[in-house]
Order: sequence, then structure tokens, then C-alpha cells
Amino acid sequence: MKFFIDTANLDQIREAQDLGVLDGVTTNPSLMAKEGISGDNAVKAHYKAICNIVDGDVSAEVIATDFDGIVREGESLAELHDNIVVKVPMIRDGVKAIRYFSDRGIRTNCTLVFSPGQALLAAKAGATYVSPFIGRIDDISSDGLQLIEKMRLIYDNYGFESQILAASVRHTMHVIECAEIGADVMTGPLSAILGLLNHPLTDIGLEKFLADHRGSK
Ligand code: E4P
Repeated sequence: MKFFIDTANLDQIREAQDLGVLDGVTTNPSLMAKEGISGDNAVKAHYKAICNIVDGDVSAEVIATDFDGIVREGESLAELHDNIVVKVPMIRDGVKAIRYFSDRGIRTNCTLVFSPGQALLAAKAGATYVSPFIGRIDDISSDGLQLIEKMRLIYDNYGFESQILAASVRHTMHVIECAEIGADVMTGPLSAILGLLNHPLTDIGLEKFLADHRGSK
């Protein structure tokens, strides 16, 4: 399972990279705005800075919603760095653009996926990654993990090569449950990754080992 971090914060990206378990980064316009990054040039420079920290896929989202605009923006983002994956929304022109990019060897991440039908369409169009937003589904009293289960079934039934990128992961249990179901990738906050470290018996056990070691001297 690949671990992506879902942030545009360079310090957090460095911290996750430093842990040695980071496979990539996802961003979106809201995450960019949160870091105060705005304007085409600043956004592109920020993507380059992220690519210089992480040796893995970095999703860069298009803002355009029409086919020509998505293609223009996506091609320009893909030129920034070999690791850029063009993030395209699950809309009609987005699906067309994913097929266009896929035919030209430009990798894509189909974002804002909320149903098995959308996931099927994204895979048919040749998306490299397909991102179901599980946290946002949970937010409306529905079951985000169930969508991942359905996607796994559909993709395995037909051997689709699109990778299931569990997005909108909010906490550590989401990470574990996505791993159990067989999501190919998860993207979440640093806290969800660091939470995997925690177990009280580890802390108690280590404290005892260290105390015994001190006592035996
Ligand atoms: C995915 O690529 C999105 O950036 C992200 O996971 C959205 O998460 P949120 O629902 O916590 O905003």
C-alpha cells in the first residue's frame, strides 16, 4: 500500500519524507490556499518545491472545467516535473480529458469520486489513480469504506489497472481499514500516518526493558 500525504505544507511533507515511508503527495486548491499559495506562478513553483522533497507521485489539480482548458492546464502541469500526476475532477469534460491524457502517456488522478459508477467511468477512461473521498462520504452519514470495497470488486472483476487512491482519509483507523480492504494507496494527514505508531503496550514494554537494562548494570 502506498502512503501519500494530503497537504501542501512543506514542513509536514519533509517530516513524512524523513520517516522514510512516504510514496507521494496529493494537493488540492483548498490545501494550496491554506498555505497562502495563490496565482499560477506561485502554485507552479510550490509544486516544484514539493517535487524536490519527495521522490514519488505529486498530484497537481487543474482548475479549468472545460475540456480544452483542462488539457491546456494539465499539459503545462505535467511539464513541471516527471513526478507530476494531473488531478482532474470527475465531470464529463474531465473524463474526456483523462482519456486524452492517458492516450498520450500523461498520468492522471481522477478526483472527487463518490460512487461506484464514477469509479468505473474513471477506470474506463484510463485514469492512473481514482480518488474516492471516504471522509466526505462519512461526513454525510454514509459509508466511505463501502465505496472502496465496491471499487476493489469492480476493478478486480475486469483487471482495471487504475489504482484506488483512498482520499479524504481523516484518521488512523481509516488507514488500517483501507489497507484491509485493499486500497492501493491512501492519502491523509500526517497525524493519520503517525497514529499508526501508537500502542500503550509498546510504551510500557519499552519502559520496562530500559528500566531492567539500567538495573542490570
Ligand atoms: C484528495 O486528493 C483530496 O485532496 C483530499 O483527500 C480531500 O480531503 P478532505 O475531505 O479532508 O478535504
